[in-house]
Amino acid sequence: MDHLFVSVLLLLCSVAAASSFSGNAAGADGDPLILQVVDDEKGELALSAEAHFASFVRRFGKTYADEEERALRFKVFKANLHRAARYQRLDPTAIHGVTKFSDLSPAEFRRAYLGLRRPEAHKSTHEAPILPTDDLPTDFDWRDYGAVTGVKNQGSCGSCWSFSTAGALEGANFLATGKLESLSEQQLVDCDHECDSDEPDACDQGCNGGLMTTAFQYLLKSGGLEREEDYPYTGTDRGSCKFDKSKIAASVQNFSVISTNEDQIAANLVKHGPLAIGINSVFMQTYIGGVSCPYICGRHLDHGVLLVGYGSAGYSPIRLKDKPFWIIKNSWGENWGEHGYYKICRGRNICGVDSMVSSVSAIHTQQDQ
Ligand SMILES: *[C@@H]1O[C@H](CO)[C@@H](O)[C@H](O)[C@H]1NC(C)=O
Repeated sequence: MDHLFVSVLLLLCSVAAASSFSGNAAGADGDPLILQVVDDEKGELALSAEAHFASFVRRFGKTYADEEERALRFKVFKANLHRAARYQRLDPTAIHGVTKFSDLSPAEFRRAYLGLRRPEAHKSTHEAPILPTDDLPTDFDWRDYGAVTGVKNQGSCGSCWSFSTAGALEGANFLATGKLESLSEQQLVDCDHECDSDEPDACDQGCNGGLMTTAFQYLLKSGGLEREEDYPYTGTDRGSCKFDKSKIAASVQNFSVISTNEDQIAANLVKHGPLAIGINSVFMQTYIGGVSCPYICGRHLDHGVLLVGYGSAGYSPIRLKDKPFWIIKNSWGENWGEHGYYKICRGRNICGVDSMVSSVSAIHTQQDQ
């Protein structure tokens, strides 16, 4: 039994890794092996939980301080296996299962790996102008144009907002200069304390959360972002601001907030580059691959990510489906999701994916050698 489950997990991972599925893989629909791993109804999940956990610990190099801690993590892990099985039923076009976050409770996960704070003021300044949508390509991916840096890892710090912000500016800067520069999230974590109202929680605060639009505001005031290599990521917010104006590598010209209209989102994406978006991350802790399209998903936004493209049809190894999807770059490292990416279906503001979208334009800086 143990061997069976280990090999099923490996199968799932290699299937998920092949992110560009080619058409109709026969037999994938309803594959009993794949369904088995996510179906706890037969009790098999419970029987093999120990084996699952052992393989999880190996695969992600987990270490626990003592037996007590290990026992606690195993308990959480088992609860997450059941949650993954539940999410699989709610979200059949994606694959849910064991991820590197499987030993974290939902609350621990929220605290450590998200970081989108609630916007206080709903100011409608910087509304994006309406763009034509007639000639939009059916499939589009900024990675194909070299406008997206490699997947980064925010670590255990609620700084998602800084990755979303830096990613959007990396793309905009590429469009303005033709050069792809990896930009510094740590500068935002250390130096951006911009607020969007007088409320006590209305400011960007490093690992305790922030907002992409206020971060753009900070960038307008401060002058821009340094390169990743000049101001490297530490994943803590205990350091002081070490921003050096002479090292600015990319500057914001202006930014705007885009309406929830999906065609406008697509048009702005194609015109301005990758977009900073908020999302409800509830299905992401257990996500392994495929197009996430849950029957129900909250629209409370708790995670900031980067929208880099869209596709017209998705393929799920569990069930063949034609589903248009968004392609989202996350900041949880490459060993999460589809090489660090998440696909979520388009069409009905699933998980609030259309509700907080902003685009940025960069200034063509002349200071380069
Ligand atoms: C920035 O301003 C220019 C010129 O007004 C405008 O065309 C562009 O759409 C703006 N960019 C964004 C991201 O709002």
